[in-house]
Amino acid sequence: MDGNGRWAKQRGLPRIEGHRRGVETVRTMTFAARDLGVKMLTLYAFSVENRNRPEDEVGALMGLLEFYLRKELETFVRDRVRLRTIGRTGDLPAGVQRLLRDTVKATEKFDDYTLVLALNYGSRTEVQDAVGAYAAAVAAGSEPPGSPAWDRFQNYLYTADMPDPDLVIRTSGETRLSNFLLLQAAYAEWFFTPVFWPDFSREDLATAIADYHRRERRFGRTSEQVRPAGTP
Ligand code: FPP
Repeated sequence: MDGNGRWAKQRGLPRIEGHRRGVETVRTMTFAARDLGVKMLTLYAFSVENRNRPEDEVGALMGLLEFYLRKELETFVRDRVRLRTIGRTGDLPAGVQRLLRDTVKATEKFDDYTLVLALNYGSRTEVQDAVGAYAAAVAAGSEPPGSPAWDRFQNYLYTADMPDPDLVIRTSGETRLSNFLLLQAAYAEWFFTPVFWPDFSREDLATAIADYHRRERRFGRTSEQVRPAGTP
């Protein structure tokens, strides 16, 4: 969800105004994605590295997150949206942690559509945490020593029981991965758009998904293997 700061700057507004508008886009996209057939939407809301931003911006972002969670709990329950998180959420402010816990608990039974918030998330810290947990499991005898099979190791990632992303969209014209789901997105399709997150619309999302559907996903195989002669 990139470009909030530049969106605000272009309008002579403080950066936090961009984030505030960004929250509106979060609301729109949560339901737009579902309407377009998406089963799971993950939003990169706050990275481990974002903690190094000026203190007032980090504080304002946490405030926005708290406000958002307070407001959305009822909507999620009414509209059957399951909320989950990935990241070191234990380092977030206590009030945010409490709201996250309550919302995750109140929506845990919904299984049609899931919104995942990546909060205090970074792929590298995820790997560190997973390796630590895996090593502890080996020491306890619940995992075998030696190189783990991927299918076992991935159970120690924050995304343990989530599918890998099919499509990753980055807004604002940047073409970096920025420590986001690096392992899980190994075979994801990427879509880069110049649109700033506060301006990202339903139509933009539909365009990205239509683009995704035109791609051939080969997962290391040949075109002939994934599309044998005679198949449309
Ligand atoms: C990147 O734009 C955006 C962020 C670091 C924060 C995103 C957070 C929100 C939209 C609000 C809180 C989240 C939820 C789920 C309620 P940037 O500030 O880096 O933009 P810039 O690159 O133009 O400066």
